Formats: sequence, structure tokens, C-alpha cells
Amino acid sequence: MCGIIGCVGRDGETLETLVHGLSKLEYRGYDSAGVALTGDGETVEISKKAGELDDLRAALEEYAPAGEVGIGHTRWSTHGPPTDENAHPHQDCTGRVAVVHNGIIENYQALRDELATSGHTFRSDTDTEVLPHLVEEGLDSGLDPDAAVRQALTRVDGSYAVAVVVAGVDAVFAARNDSPLVLGEDDDAVYLASDVPAFRDFTDRVVYLADGEFARLDGEGWTVTNIDGETVEKTVDTVDWDPEEAGKSGYDHFMLKEIHEQPRALRQCLRGRVEELGGNIEVGDLGDLSPTGVQFVACGTSYHAALYGAQLFQQAGIPAQAFLASEYASSPPPIGDALVIGVTQSGETADTLSALREADKRGARTLAVTNTVGSTAARECDHVFYIRAGPEIGVAATKTFASQLAALNLLVLAMAGGNARDIVPALRDLPGDVQALLDDSNAEAIAEVYEDSSAYFFIGRGYHYPVALEGALKMKEISYKHAEGFAAGELKHGPLALVTEETPVFAVVTGDGESARKTIGNVKEVEARNAPVVAVTDGASEVERYADHVLRVPETHPRAASVLANVQLQLVSYHVAKRLGRSIDKPRNLAKSVTVE
Ligand code: M6R
Repeated sequence: MCGIIGCVGRDGETLETLVHGLSKLEYRGYDSAGVALTGDGETVEISKKAGELDDLRAALEEYAPAGEVGIGHTRWSTHGPPTDENAHPHQDCTGRVAVVHNGIIENYQALRDELATSGHTFRSDTDTEVLPHLVEEGLDSGLDPDAAVRQALTRVDGSYAVAVVVAGVDAVFAARNDSPLVLGEDDDAVYLASDVPAFRDFTDRVVYLADGEFARLDGEGWTVTNIDGETVEKTVDTVDWDPEEAGKSGYDHFMLKEIHEQPRALRQCLRGRVEELGGNIEVGDLGDLSPTGVQFVACGTSYHAALYGAQLFQQAGIPAQAFLASEYASSPPPIGDALVIGVTQSGETADTLSALREADKRGARTLAVTNTVGSTAARECDHVFYIRAGPEIGVAATKTFASQLAALNLLVLAMAGGNARDIVPALRDLPGDVQALLDDSNAEAIAEVYEDSSAYFFIGRGYHYPVALEGALKMKEISYKHAEGFAAGELKHGPLALVTEETPVFAVVTGDGESARKTIGNVKEVEARNAPVVAVTDGASEVERYADHVLRVPETHPRAASVLANVQLQLVSYHVAKRLGRSIDKPRNLAKSVTVE
């Protein structure tokens, strides 16, 4: 996920407007940033820098591109580490064209090879750089800039929001396919951005582009056309968020926004990795690792993902264990030739890094499953697999957990084979299933009923056990209330003593097999002690008979059901915490990235 900004007008303040917009988009990516402006010169003027926006600001003190028409970008790396060269905007061979892009170009390698063969010189490792060279080809063949951009995009497979400027042309050309792009207008200027906050300080009048639409922004305003060049009539909407709130796109908290971003995060994780028809999984060289044993190391939410991952490998016949990273070094397990997998959203968690280093010291091969390109885990491990969830601002991990579970499914299928046929369609349907659940969730009403409870318990079995742990972690982290997750079968071995009329028990039960039947037995034990039961279920079993409330999830494969059940539990925790007036995005005592052991 990256942030795009574009601007035409602003009477001598285009550069400042772009930088201001980038500061509002930093939550979408913050490992490098850049701007490109066009004036009367024969080339586009560019400044770009690896690092935070302040690094770009410092560079602009030295050299400030001039022009009335410009584009900018803040990056979250997907192809290539965060360096000056990989920062956007990217240019063609002549310097006439500059492009910023958010998304993933799946066929970039083939395009790059083709363009290189016909003499184009590449300066970065990014997928994006094929675009300016394709536009250059179009211009060289006599097309006007608008047609050259259109033609370039017909060559590209994947997702994109792009903005293009061409030297000597007072316009920004933009298009979207499966990545957000919105236009803004005021009396003096027109804007485009990945998200409204980028220009919300200047205007509340916005136009949302749809997939397959092209936009031209110039001194006359904006026009939107379809793929065939026909004009599309668009509605100008008025946003009613104040600029302060706008970074959350109208959501009250980043956590809620990120819960709602899960369909998109999952799509990004799966894109280009699951071959729809044959069910083949594409994870590059990782598919060749063929581990004979797997040890996971992770903390917090990522540890819960690791527990789930260990079950996946076990089911595929590969011995696997999940370790709390902070415990790994004090009692190191025999390593043999196991693959040690560090699951870490940030890639910077000190405990996880330390466990991975310990494994490396003992001769193990290491793999980082992370969200953060260029992070320490990504750099230090022998291999890396990105979950591609996009930046997560809320301290509570939400969309990254969903993406970790999806990514682990891909890894186990690629490394251990197994029966892909049944899980692949479920993975493919998962983004849509999460969306359906989000559209119809009654979690807020459940939170209202139980906001005053003295404690909350969560139970699950098999793939739903990590979800029970995660449900409890989320609840305690943001509501500051006592919450515990248990393997459903363990309840009767002690925790049942805690269960009272004051303690709702959230039971995750999907399907109608042996696992569901046994968990229903545990639910009956709870019910007999008069504790309220909230069943998180797809309705396939009779658990609802013993439940006071139901949180519904779509019917699907049990592994995918865990992701869905967790979304309902995230929502319950969120609404309990909100009703209690907690600091949801920055809970007390906690940090997003824990870089001390
Ligand atoms: O960045 P990591 O995934 O390594 O972080 C690990 C934990 O600190 C993290 O998952 C933490 O438990 C979450 N903030 C909980 O929501």
C-alpha cells in the first residue's frame, strides 16, 4: 500500500501542496517519498528520497522542483528495498515521463525483459518502472500523452492506481484498477489522491474514481473517461469529516478502519499467488524449501498466527511447533534441519529477532513471514515471505493477523503440498466472505449487552484455538478488562471455576464434525453454570441451542472459518472498548513495535 497525490493549480504552491498531501498519506507507507513537477522544461523535475517524509523535506531544501503541475508518492515497499532509486516517481529513459503507482504489476518481469531487449534502461528494482518506459514507447510512436498512458495500461496485469506527468504538458493523467483513487476540486485547483485526507485541508468536494476509469486533470478542471475514451458522468460528493478525522477515512479509529480493510488486505496477500483454476500456489523459491520440520517463533498476535501455522504443517505431515519467541532462547529445542519461521508484522520485534538469531547461530535456515519490506527480520533471515497487508497504524493487530493466516496457508500448500483443491476456493472466497460478515455483523449489539461483564472467556478447538487466544488478547489489550482464551477441552481442567453468570463465554464452533460436537459438549458445561454463551458459528451445528447470542460467519473451509470468526471477535472487542471510552488506537502501556526484550 502506498500513497499517491497529484495537483494542478494552487498558484505557485504546487510543491507545498504535494508535500502536505504526502504528510497526510504517511499512514499508507513511509519508507520513501518523492515528487515530480512539470513546467516549461524538456524534462520533468524530480526529487525523491528513501526514509521518512522529513528526509524528502531536507532534500527539497537543497533542490526544489518547480512547476504548476505535479505528482507525489509515499511508499510501502513491495518490489525492492527502500532506497532512493526505488522511491517513486519513476521515469522513462528520456526524463520526459514520471509515474507514481500504488498496487502490484504482476507481469512486470516479462514487460521489463521485453523493454530492456528493445533498449530501455532501468534504474530501480520496482515493478512500477515498466510504466514510464511503456508510456515512452507510446509517445515515441506518435501517440498523445493521454493515448500513451492508456496504451501502457493495457499491457499491465494487476492492480494499480497511477498518476503520470509528461514534460511540457500541463496535465496529470491518472487511472485506477483495484487500487483507490479519488479526485478533489476547489475553485482554483484540482487534486487526486489515494485517499481524501491528502487534500481535505483544501476542499471537501470529491469525485471517487471507479475501476477502469481514466482521469485528466488540467487548468480547466477534470474529466473522467472509460477505457474506450468515452466521457463518464461523475457525481461530486461532499465529505463531511473534518480534516482532523480524515486520516481515518471517516472511521472513528484506525483499528475499525483496519478491521474493515481486511477484504482488501487478503486480496493483496493472495494476488498473483493462487492460480485460480488449477489451485497451484506460487511463492517463488520458497516452494523448494521442503522442510522436514518447522519451528515457529513469534509474539502476541503473531504467536497466535504461528500456532495456527504449526497446525497447518502438522496436518500436512510435517512436524511443527510454535514457540513464544521470548521463551525460545532460554530453552532451545533440538533443531535438526528444521526451518525456523519468524512470524512478525513489524519485522522489528526484539524477542522474535533474538529467537531467529539464536536459530541462525545454531545452523537453522530461517524464514521471515512479515508485513514490512526492508525490516530487520526481512533482511536478516535467509528467506522472506510478505503478507502484504499494508501499513497497520492501530496498536492492536487486526488485518495483519488475517493476512498472516492467509499467507501461512499459501506457504504450507507450496512447501508441503497437501489437498489444495478444497482450501484454494475457500481462500479465494475469503475476502468476499469477510466483506459479507462486516456488512452484516451484530457485534456492536453483543458488545452493548456485555460491556459491564467482569471478565470474558473465549474457547475454541483445533484451528479455532488460536482464535480463542487472539479474541482474548484483543479484548484485554483495548478494553483493559480481564479476558482469557482456552482450548475448549481444557475448560474443565481448571478454568471452569472462573465461569459465572458475570462472565460471557465466546465459543467458536463451525462445521458439524467431531470438533464441533466436542466443543458443543464444552459449551453445555458452561451453560450448566449459568454463564452467558455467545456462539461464533456458521449455523452448521446445533450450538445455537445452547447459546444466548450468536455471531454468524459464512460457511466455508474450517481453516478459513478461523479468519472469519476472528473478525467477529475483533468487532466485539472494539465496540466494548469504545463504549468504555478506551484509547483504542494507542492502548495504555503498549507500543506498535516492541523493540526491547
Ligand atoms: O510486529 P510483531 O507481529 O512481531 O508484533 C508482535 C506483538 O507485539 C503484536 O502482535 C502484539 O501482540 C499486538 N499489538 C497485539 O494486538
